[in-house]
Amino acid sequence: MARSATPRNDPPLETSIPAGTAPLESIPCSEDLQCRPSRPPDHEKENRALVELVSALADSPTTIFQTLVETIQDITQSDTAGLSLLTRDDNTPDPSGKWFYWPAITGMWKSRIGGGTGRDSTPCGVVIDQNRSLLFRHFQRCYPFFLTVTPAPEEALLAPFHIAGKGVGTIWAVMHSDRRKFDAEDDRVMNSLGKFASSAFQALKHIGDLKIQVAEREKAEAENVALLEEINQASVFEEIIGSSGTLRKVLLEVAKVAPTDSTVLIMGETGTGKELVARAIHKRSKRSGRAFIRVNCAAIPASLIASELFGHEKGAFTGALQRRAGHFEAANGGTIFLDEIGELSLETQISLLRVLQEREFQRVGSSQPVSVDLRVLAATNRDLDAAVAAGTFRQDLLYRLNVFPICVPPLRARKNDIPLLVQYLVEQFARENGKRITEIQKKTLSLFQAYDWPGNIRELQNVIERAVILCDGNALSVDESWLQGRSNNQQPRPMLSPVGMLADDRKDFVHRERKTIEGALAACEGRVSGPHGAAAKLGIPRQTLDSKIQNLDIDKRRFKSLSPTQRPA
Ligand SMILES: Nc1ncnc2c1ncn2[C@@H]1O[C@H](COP(=O)(O)OP(=O)(O)OP(=O)(O)O)[C@@H](O)[C@H]1O
Ligand SMILES: [Mg+2]
Repeated sequence: MARSATPRNDPPLETSIPAGTAPLESIPCSEDLQCRPSRPPDHEKENRALVELVSALADSPTTIFQTLVETIQDITQSDTAGLSLLTRDDNTPDPSGKWFYWPAITGMWKSRIGGGTGRDSTPCGVVIDQNRSLLFRHFQRCYPFFLTVTPAPEEALLAPFHIAGKGVGTIWAVMHSDRRKFDAEDDRVMNSLGKFASSAFQALKHIGDLKIQVAEREKAEAENVALLEEINQASVFEEIIGSSGTLRKVLLEVAKVAPTDSTVLIMGETGTGKELVARAIHKRSKRSGRAFIRVNCAAIPASLIASELFGHEKGAFTGALQRRAGHFEAANGGTIFLDEIGELSLETQISLLRVLQEREFQRVGSSQPVSVDLRVLAATNRDLDAAVAAGTFRQDLLYRLNVFPICVPPLRARKNDIPLLVQYLVEQFARENGKRITEIQKKTLSLFQAYDWPGNIRELQNVIERAVILCDGNALSVDESWLQGRSNNQQPRPMLSPVGMLADDRKDFVHRERKTIEGALAACEGRVSGPHGAAAKLGIPRQTLDSKIQNLDIDKRRFKSLSPTQRPA
């Protein structure tokens, strides 16, 4: 703020007093107002002005003081009008302040906007102290600072305004000549406008407080949370991150069932970690040294599934050029994990039932039973009870599978795990991308906590991978838009349903599936996972695509540097 000159620098009184001015004792002269002839009140004009002021306060609060002083000048027909606020040294409005700041002036002293005076160098202090409006004549004789201010004041009418009984400022109208004298009506109007000044002051203070709150909130949001150097792994399984009670309950079940040979049915939404749980069971079982064979039931065409699972004899069907062992034989001694078991056709379900009951099956094209010693784990994101009710899943098979059910909870039911998962995933992707990320934006963490994660941990994984790739500094942040536009519990779109396909269609199906996958891989330059990966492009889980790529023997590395002209149509 441009401070005024201090009284020490004021010109000497005696030399500056204009000739013919009033004696000192007649400077405050409010009682004159009652003796002067007064103009009749113009309530219509006053009301109109107040209405305009109220709407100006709503529309442009930051300029309301200036609008107010222009109204004062208009209504009082004065030469100058202004508003003074008591401030602390840092310009903060404060009733105990020692300075008057001039945020708004109009008329002949307009150039003084932004200036001010010490509390005792202006009649404003007296008006605040007496808490009433006062009329002054030639007040520069008492307040020498104003001897330097031109044009000199002839008469000044000042009214205080207050908040909760404490004076915070004054409004004033000044005549610089005797062309017009203030009257009782001016005094009444000034008191009325003083009340408005008080409302405007409160509104501005409220806006100021809101701005501070918003600024503080934004600052808090911009703050980062330090990522731990090492994951303090609360889980008993090093590969399954999380410490929530819900997850711990699941892990306890895993720990109990793992050493047994029981069949386990793992249920849960897509991306919740069902495969991770299956692998954890195998790893902690007595079969851990033997094979873990994962069969993605959704990825194998119905006409092929029998030979895939049970193998075939040479010549069993066209194209069976030699004898081939199936997944059940490959898993002998170890664990077979029947993933996405809810997608099996009814026909295959019957064959599977026999293996589960007797641990025995026949290769396609053979009548010789083959015995196996293996453990069966199965997983699904379907509601198998509903599938039984709908007649698409055999009840006897469900009984066989449902020996020890494990439900993996969705991420939204264990949001406590999010910070730990984020740390783990950031560390993993940062390492892969050769970056060092040590913090995560507080706002990002709040967004993660508020979101429902329909794609569960796989979706979180994808979001973090994308954020790590885009991260330039050491603090991770995500764009809010990445977490929008998806409804809760949305299931992944099936790419092509193999269920119910005729045997003759097989070749065509495999060809089309291969083309579709190769097209997606080419478009994504060989990338399978992540938001820009082929799995996301096709709308299927990454694991599903991985297993299709494996089954179709597609070499995804050859798409890494394809030029557009080389890409398959
Ligand atoms: N608790 C966890 N800690 C660390 N990573 C996890 C956790 N749970 C899941 N993941 C990771 O999330 C991804 C998805 O997990 P997984 O494939 O096991 O899910 P799923 O339930 O089998 O999904 P879908 O039904 O779609 O096949 C995997 O990369 C897995 O490693
Ligand atoms: Mg899975």
